[in-house]
Amino acid sequence: MAAGSDKGGKGGKRTTAKRDIATRVSHAGRDRKLTLGGVNPVVQRASTVVVESASKLFEPGGWTYGRHGTATHEALKQALCEIEGSTHCVLAPSGLMACIVPFLAFATPGSHVLVGDNVYGPTRRFVDRMLSRWGVEATYFDHTIGAGIAGLMRQQTKLVFVESPGSMTFEIADAPAIAATARAVGAISVMDNTWSGGVYHKPLQLGFDISVQANTKYVSGGADALSGAMHSDDDKVYAQLKDTIADLGSNVGPDDAYAVLRGARSLALRMEQHEKAGLEIARWLDAHTAVQRVLHPALESDPFHALWKRDFTGASGLFSIVLKKAPTERVHAFLDALELFSLGFSYGGFESLAIHCDPQLKRTAGKPHFGGPLIRLSVGLENAGDLIADLDQALSAL
Ligand SMILES: Cc1ncc(COP(=O)(O)O)c(C=O)c1O
Repeated sequence: MAAGSDKGGKGGKRTTAKRDIATRVSHAGRDRKLTLGGVNPVVQRASTVVVESASKLFEPGGWTYGRHGTATHEALKQALCEIEGSTHCVLAPSGLMACIVPFLAFATPGSHVLVGDNVYGPTRRFVDRMLSRWGVEATYFDHTIGAGIAGLMRQQTKLVFVESPGSMTFEIADAPAIAATARAVGAISVMDNTWSGGVYHKPLQLGFDISVQANTKYVSGGADALSGAMHSDDDKVYAQLKDTIADLGSNVGPDDAYAVLRGARSLALRMEQHEKAGLEIARWLDAHTAVQRVLHPALESDPFHALWKRDFTGASGLFSIVLKKAPTERVHAFLDALELFSLGFSYGGFESLAIHCDPQLKRTAGKPHFGGPLIRLSVGLENAGDLIADLDQALSAL
């Protein structure tokens, strides 16, 4: 049997589950019908797909139209399922779309949803601006809530959305407790798992119904493609997500699907380097006189370290620092003095990035008090010593 031909977005028993993730991702999506004999799948740019006979026009599961996916999408889904350890995967054109489709799939007018207070800003904006227009009420909860989320559940609660860790403030939620509480009342639980790249955290194994990944970040790793994915082990949940994205007329383009798959092949190795360099830099910053605190759950001193240790097997290269109090002009002077960290809103790529977080922080369930300017760093694949030297010279501009 061709490597990787036994699974993917179509379910089925895993015969290779014991192999390491790096091995499985290298071999996924390489069935000859997807690659035509190459190592990589074809980039199948297609709107029209012609079928051999009239009986195949309405064949369930067949490739019948570009918007529903082609060979390139199929190969990508198989690799993404190996990363996340999921049975099913639905592709989306962006990570944000993958975050919002579960709401559209499971919330109905008059229903209620629970959303972590620290979620990615545009996810929150969708809930506040769009979902509310359709008569869905949202309650934001503090990330430390754990099993206490039971107290916020209503009869109409249809969905619980968590991002762990929060991608600017890095709080880890008690995922198993939240998933179990949601399941007990029949609400769908969704985890935005982007920080871990899908490699170091397995929400489906912790009881979540859906794990969302912005492939745009670590999975792609190239900072040149947009894509998202929704993973589930539940056939009915998967069917509902798949139908919803089809009803929205949405899919990722084949060129982006190809770029994400090419990045995914080296994801496990890149994550090791992001983790190692990120921790080295975080520790160095923790000891710097200009820095009050480092928000990185893999640091022993972090308040979320115990939860991270219990539920994660590693860390990515994304974390924040709280600087000692300084006026905005000095914070800008520090950011502008950086030479190797570019200023940009994304993360997970080969290039290091920095942003000032304070203007974007929005909380309603609690107030984060960091006591100084919050800066997020995405540690890329450059040499850690060079990045430390860059931070050192820029911090002197404070
Ligand atoms: C945690 C998280 N989820 C989702 C997204 C959205 O991903 P995309 O930019 O692909 O829409 C982002 C983007 O920054 C993110 O940080």
